[in-house]
Amino acid sequence: MAAGAAGTRAALALLVVCSMAAGAAGTSPEIAAGYFEDAGKVFLSCNISGSHPTITGHKWIHKEKILDEDSSPDASTSYTIEGKREDHSGIYECVFEANPQMKGEVNISVPPQVTAYKKSEHGNEGDTGVLTCKNPSFPAVTTWSWHKSGQRLDNASGRYIIKSSGNKTELRILKLDIEQDTGDYFCNATNSLGSGDATVSLRVRSRLAALWPFLGIVAEVLVLVTIIFIYEKRRKPDEVPDDDDGGSAPLKSNATNHKDKNVRQRNAN
Ligand SMILES: *[C@@H]1O[C@H](CO)[C@@H](O)[C@H](O)[C@H]1NC(C)=O
Ligand SMILES: *[C@@H]1O[C@H](CO)[C@@H](O)[C@H](O)[C@H]1NC(C)=O
Ligand SMILES: *[C@@H]1O[C@H](CO)[C@@H](O)[C@H](O)[C@H]1NC(C)=O
Ligand SMILES: *[C@@H]1O[C@H](CO)[C@@H](O)[C@H](O)[C@H]1NC(C)=O
Ligand SMILES: *[C@@H]1O[C@H](CO)[C@@H](O)[C@H](O)[C@H]1NC(C)=O
Repeated sequence: MAAGAAGTRAALALLVVCSMAAGAAGTSPEIAAGYFEDAGKVFLSCNISGSHPTITGHKWIHKEKILDEDSSPDASTSYTIEGKREDHSGIYECVFEANPQMKGEVNISVPPQVTAYKKSEHGNEGDTGVLTCKNPSFPAVTTWSWHKSGQRLDNASGRYIIKSSGNKTELRILKLDIEQDTGDYFCNATNSLGSGDATVSLRVRSRLAALWPFLGIVAEVLVLVTIIFIYEKRRKPDEVPDDDDGGSAPLKSNATNHKDKNVRQRNAN
């Protein structure tokens, strides 16, 4: 770590002291848990102080998964996360293996990192549009809201149905209208650390637009039929002079034509 990073280090250091509910006499053990961010990494640590039973190892746990473990007797333990804290928020537990076991907690808390399920949505006129946003970060969102053109949308209008749970919100737009409903929608989340939002742009197509591929095929067929019809019409009159000039045409196949020619030739004489 560079010495220049000391500022960042101090700014982000967060100390949390968890008193252990040890009933024993004397100074009960205390665990100082915290983290700081530097150079694209997050450094978590837990230090135990006060009188405590012999330590036989450590564990780091996140979402019920063991991230790391060792069997050292140290009074301190650390864990490094590669990445920004915004992408790794949550509750991390450090465990000091002993009898009894002792635990500390590092909470990496960030403002909501809201993302849209799909950044752009399409809907047909008259259908119901569904826009969804989620927040995977910690702590959970306390308030969700939807906005369009600076106005907050709610159930009361009868045009929208908003359903929000801890880490997800869904906006349903009833009977989509091309002029009213096309545009950008903001889903806005707030938690104890701040707020965050995401944008979903909705495009509403006319019902006719959905028919266009079909109409295109119909038009194509009509054009083809017309071309064939015109071609056939033009071909018919051409056939007679073709057979007539020179005697080179296969006359055998057409007895009537043969006779006609003979008559014509005799008349010419
Ligand atoms: C734990 O101790 C280490 C080394 O003394 C120190 O760098 C770290 O900041 C301490 N962590 C906490 C959470 O107090
Ligand atoms: C961490 O977050 C949890 C859940 O919000 C909370 O119950 C707990 O007290 C927090 N721990 C610390 C050390 O802040
Ligand atoms: C809107 O209405 C839906 C369905 O009736 C309901 O589940 C939801 O909680 C309501 N949302 C709000 C914000 O009241
Ligand atoms: C929050 O999202 C996760 C997946 O990202 C999901 O597994 C979990 O059930 C969700 N929690 C709640 C309370 O909806
Ligand atoms: C979410 O809502 C308000 C209003 O849109 C806006 O000021 C903020 O920047 C957005 N984030 C939030 C909270 O809007």
